[in-house]
Amino acid sequence: MPYLYHQLISNNKNWVAQKKQTDTTYFKRLSSGQKPLFLYIGCSDSRMPLDTFTQTEPGELFVHRNIANQVSITDLNFLSVLDYAVNYLHVKHIIVCGHYGCAGVSEAYQGQATGLVGNWISPISEIASAYKDELDQIDDMQERMNRLSELNVLEQVRKLFKINIIQQVLAENQTSIELHGWILDLSSGLIKELETDLKHEF
Ligand code: CO
Repeated sequence: MPYLYHQLISNNKNWVAQKKQTDTTYFKRLSSGQKPLFLYIGCSDSRMPLDTFTQTEPGELFVHRNIANQVSITDLNFLSVLDYAVNYLHVKHIIVCGHYGCAGVSEAYQGQATGLVGNWISPISEIASAYKDELDQIDDMQERMNRLSELNVLEQVRKLFKINIIQQVLAENQTSIELHGWILDLSSGLIKELETDLKHEF
């Protein structure tokens, strides 16, 4: 059943009352500041609230989401989130999390998206071209798109690794930061950790 607008506000009141009942200082602590260990870069898809899938609380995930979880070095919004997460919040892990059934991925593959969205997801078409041989061997189209979703995540992790904000932290060698690529399988609810080919732990 979809929620009506006003139900969101009444849900909020109920949730606050429940939280206060189990932990009287919860909101006092929450309002005093954040010290998240994780930066989550994910797809804007409404099915991708990673805190629900990882059972994390407000204050634990710093978040940047866009269509098809892109690491874009020309996106000031993304770069400022990354800078703040790394240099001010000192997150220890950066997680790029895509998902199977990502419309951004399949539309980029089929060349269907136009306008701003088409422009935004065009780097995924290039990933599809680079891995054409591997993808062509997968007959089932859904499985082929699943693999492209994984390749998209891996490519974003690679791009992330090369950004100077990350390279500077790794070069300083004083703090540790780990980069991770995840895929969420919405049909099972389970997260799959992807093997990255980077030396990303210091
Ligand atoms: Co998506």
